This record gives sequence, C-alpha cells and structure tokens, in this order.
Amino acid sequence: MIPKESVPSLRAMAATMAQQAPISADLLTMLTDDLENDGPAARMLADHPDAAAPLYYLRALAGVRLLILTGRAPELEAHLAGVVSHRGDPAYAEHTRDLFRRTLFSHPDEIRSAMDRPIQQHQPGRAGYLLRGLGMLAAPKVRLLEIGACAGLNLILDHYRWCGPDWEWGAPSSAVRLATSGPHPGDIEIVHRAGCDIAPRDAADPDDAAILRSFLPVELEADRLELDNAIELAAFLRVRVDKADAVEWLRAELSRPAEADTYTVVWHSLFWLYLDPGDRSAIEGIMAAAARHMRLARICYEPHAWGAVPQLQVIAYS
Ligand SMILES: C[S@@+](CC[C@H](N)C(=O)[O-])C[C@H]1O[C@@H](n2cnc3c(N)ncnc32)[C@H](O)[C@@H]1O
Repeated sequence: MIPKESVPSLRAMAATMAQQAPISADLLTMLTDDLENDGPAARMLADHPDAAAPLYYLRALAGVRLLILTGRAPELEAHLAGVVSHRGDPAYAEHTRDLFRRTLFSHPDEIRSAMDRPIQQHQPGRAGYLLRGLGMLAAPKVRLLEIGACAGLNLILDHYRWCGPDWEWGAPSSAVRLATSGPHPGDIEIVHRAGCDIAPRDAADPDDAAILRSFLPVELEADRLELDNAIELAAFLRVRVDKADAVEWLRAELSRPAEADTYTVVWHSLFWLYLDPGDRSAIEGIMAAAARHMRLARICYEPHAWGAVPQLQVIAYS
C-alpha cells in the first residue's frame, strides 16, 4: 500500500520543482492526484515493499526518464525535445501527461525495477556547500567521510574547479567548473576520503551513469552537462563508496583513529530525511561518542522537511 500520508510531501516536492522544472512537477502532481484517487498508477505501483518509502513516486518519474534516456520511449523523447520552448503551454503539458501515462503503463517490468531503486538525485554542485563548510572549519588536513554518497561526486570536490565571487579553488584544469559563493575556503588537503550508500552507483558503469541521469528533471539541461563531466571524472578517479547502511558503516569508520593533525569531517546532503528517527539518533550518538577521541565535525546540507530549502549546517564537536 502507498500511504495517503505521503501526499503532502509529494505535493511539497512538486511545488519546489515547479519553478525550474515545471513539466516534471506537473507529472509528479498528476501521479499524486492519481494516488489520492486510487487511480491506475497507484494500483500498478502499490504492491511493492518500498511503497511507504519517502517520495516513492519520484522513482516512477525517474523510471520513465530512464526509458527515454535508453531509447525505449522515442515518441515521448521527441516530444520532450520541445520542453523549453513550450514552457507554460497547457496543450503541450496535456500531451506530455498523455505520453507519460502511455509510457508508464506499457513498460511494467522496467517501471517495477525503477521502483526498487532509492532516489538518487546526485549533483556535483552540492559539494559547494561542503567546500563552504570546510572553509569555516579552517582545517588544513581533512579525513572526509560521506554517508549517502551515491556515486561519490561530492567526495571528489577538490578535483573540481570552484569559481567564487573573486577567487578560484581546486584543480585548475578540471573539466568540472562550478560556480559557488562565500569567502575563499583556504588551503585544504583531503588526506583520506570514503563514503557509503545502500545502493552505490559506479560512475564507470554506463547503466549506473544512466540511472544517475534519470533522476535529473528533463528541463535541467545545463545541470546535465555538469553531471556528465562529474561522472566522467569520478569514473577516472574511482573514489571508494562502500555498499553499506550509514549507521554501521559510520560506526566502523569512526572506530579508526585519525592522525593528530587531521580533522575528521562527516558530510551528508539530501539524505537525512530518508532515514528513520532511530537511525538518525544512532548516527548522532556515534558522532558524539567519537568526538571524545578525535577532532570531529559534521557538515550537512539538508532541508528540515520535504520541499523545504536545504540549509548548510556546520557542527564542530571539537
Ligand atoms: C538523494 S540522494 C543524495 C546523494 C548525495 N548525498 C547528494 O547530495 O548528491 C540520497 C542517497 O542516500 C542513499 N541512502 C538512503 N538511505 C541510506 C542509508 N540508510 N544508508 C546509506 N545510504 C542511504 C540513497 O541510496 C541515495 O544515494
């Protein structure tokens, strides 16, 4: 069963997406209306062990997008080539809904596989908040640990070129050039980096790369180029992302001491709300215990509720 309680969070997400990705927001609204009315999509998607997972319906949107990206929905793909020029056109939106429904219902196996995958909207620009947080810590040497790291695109932030208001930071000749704000972060050396994810994506694997692309709304073409460059870089660097749940992984990582001159930084973004309250407090307990014997900080970029604007938080334990 898909609980009706998920309706407000889906509507909040659709409202947040509406400005930048109006057609994707409209499709999410259509699915949410269907859920409220026990419509055909709800009946198709309800029988799944993750049906009560947060924002479960977003997986269906990514599933259809993956069909487009892999050439299995040519009519919808050709139609969506006009998504920018038809912004605000109600007839275009109606036709999109129609083609989307037809694609969804004609690929039940592929959509079923999509419903098995967690939401993995993963963008390298988010690491700009990590960089800002690292700058606030003013720690020259960092051991960086990320929970919910997906393909590790945030873990390789020092391999990107960051362009601030009057400064640049990072790898000078990087193909990934990203705008950011705030003061110059200072000198930071990442001496160790690792992440975990319940479903890590290997940037070097074309199927995994397509899954990452499928979570980006069709309207965000510029972000897509950024994502492609970051995926290519991550495939080359082969950063370590372990297949593990955050709680036990973090407990094990923080049981290993860091060098005395190194700050251990635990980072996460757009991840916290997917955890249940027990896991959240377990992670907070693990961090508090570890802070007794190492220099430790937590940097996070998270919304307080679905659809809310994420906020950067830097917690220096020591
Ligand atoms: C929306 S993505 C965000 C990825 C990345 N943090 C970013 O900001 O680009 C959330 C990620 O958290 C992972 N995830 C969800 N629950 C998890 C858990 N209990 N332990 C580890 N990873 C988890 C998902 O698989 C997914 O890759």
